[in-house]
Amino acid sequence: MKPLAEFLLPDEEAGRRFGARLGLCLRPGMTVLLQGPVGAGKSHLARAAIRALAGEAVDVPSPTFTLVQTYETPQGEVWHADLYRLGDAGEVAELGLADAMGRDILLIEWPDRLGDYTPTDAITVTLAYEGEGRRLAISGAAEGLLACLEGSA
Ligand SMILES: Nc1ncnc2c1ncn2[C@@H]1O[C@H](COP(=O)(O)OP(=O)(O)O)[C@@H](O)[C@H]1O
Ligand SMILES: [Mg+2]
Repeated sequence: MKPLAEFLLPDEEAGRRFGARLGLCLRPGMTVLLQGPVGAGKSHLARAAIRALAGEAVDVPSPTFTLVQTYETPQGEVWHADLYRLGDAGEVAELGLADAMGRDILLIEWPDRLGDYTPTDAITVTLAYEGEGRRLAISGAAEGLLACLEGSA
C-alpha cells in the first residue's frame, strides 16, 4: 500500500512524542493497524497514544499474553491488542474486537492475524528500522488523521 505520509523517528523520545500526537488525533470508530517486525516500536507507539488519551500515569503493559487490554478514556474505550499469539481469526470475535471495530478506538499489533475481520476503513501505521531510529509510514483511510496530525505538528 502506497504511504500517504512518512515520518522519521530518530530515537525513542521522538517515537513517544509522535505516539502522543497520534493518540490525541484518534476518535471513536478508528482502527489503527500497527505493522512492523519485532522491536519496531509498535507497543512503544501504542503506549504513548494510550497515555495521551487515558492519562500519563496509566500503566500500559504489552498485551503479548492477554492479547487485549482495554482503557477507559474521554474518547470512549480504547483497545490495545497484540495478535501474535492469536489461535485463529474466530478469536477476534471472542475477544470482543469485532464488536468494538467501528465503535471504539483500536490499536492492533500483528493485524495480519485479523483475516476477514480486517476493517476496510482501517488506518495502517507501518514501522521500520532506520539506523538507530525508525521510519513510520501511514496508509489506508487516514485523511482525517493526517489533517489532525498536521494541525498538531
Ligand atoms: N523511534 C524509535 N527509535 C529508537 N528506538 C525505539 C523507537 N521506538 C521504539 N523504540 C525502542 O524499540 C524497542 C522495542 O519497542 P517495542 O514497542 O516493544 O516493539 P514492538 O512492539 O514493535 O515489538 C523498545 O526498547 C523501544 O523503546
Ligand atoms: Mg509489541
